[in-house]
Amino acid sequence: MPLYKSVTINANTRLLVWKNTESMEELSAAVTLKDVCVNKMDKMKSESHRKAFLGVRMLMQEIGYTDFDLYYSADGKPHLTDGNNISITHSYAFSAIIVSSQNIGIDMEMQREKVITIAEKFLLPEFAYLDPTHLETYMQNLIVIWGVKEAVYKMISRSGLSFKQNIEVLPFKMEEATGKANVKFEEIDAQYPFFFEEIEGFTLVYCLGS
Ligand SMILES: CC(C)(COP(=O)(O)OP(=O)(O)OC[C@H]1O[C@@H](n2cnc3c(N)ncnc32)[C@H](O)[C@@H]1OP(=O)(O)O)[C@@H](O)C(=O)NCCC(=O)NCCS
Repeated sequence: MPLYKSVTINANTRLLVWKNTESMEELSAAVTLKDVCVNKMDKMKSESHRKAFLGVRMLMQEIGYTDFDLYYSADGKPHLTDGNNISITHSYAFSAIIVSSQNIGIDMEMQREKVITIAEKFLLPEFAYLDPTHLETYMQNLIVIWGVKEAVYKMISRSGLSFKQNIEVLPFKMEEATGKANVKFEEIDAQYPFFFEEIEGFTLVYCLGS
């Protein structure tokens, strides 16, 4: 059952998650790729990356798109030819997409302690409310904050946007699974809602723009 989850977030927004259980042969047979994507996939070193890439296309097919509807701008941001917005994430066996008429961002991170060692690279104002003495909660909070910043970055995708200086995740409660992030960068001075959930040792985060 590779389609792991399909959720209607609002009238214009769908979130889909794929968990790869098929062989490369099965996936390849089910997905038709543009030549440029065949070349891109051939250059990927790991089979898990190739499967995640195909998992994204399987999810697109679930909602009536194909690889031919997807293109990338020079910064790596994916776009749909019909003008809807798409954001993509993949981590190990999981791939996820969010598609909307709104600008959106998605990220999936594996829950692992490594996040503690890199915390200072991506957060600053959030240290004011985080408590490093409760290790388990601290790690869970850091993973959410990291995911939010990746999702916000994907939504905005501006060169020079700093996780640490320009994106602030306001205090949130794990049990509420939602929160708000402030972004101040160039002419942007905005607040975006984010939502998160835990899936088999991973944290999935998405944010909604305008
Ligand atoms: C590009 C970036 C957002 C990708 O995120 P990631 O967590 O490494 O990987 P994910 O699997 O979640 O996302 C990959 C997808 O992001 C999308 N993506 C890549 N660049 C993007 C961009 N500029 N804008 C929006 N989406 C982008 C792509 O769809 C990509 O998948 P695909 O190429 O297979 O289609 C991330 O690596 C990055 O550059 N972040 C900003 C840099 C930064 O400040 N990092 C600080 C960390 S401390």
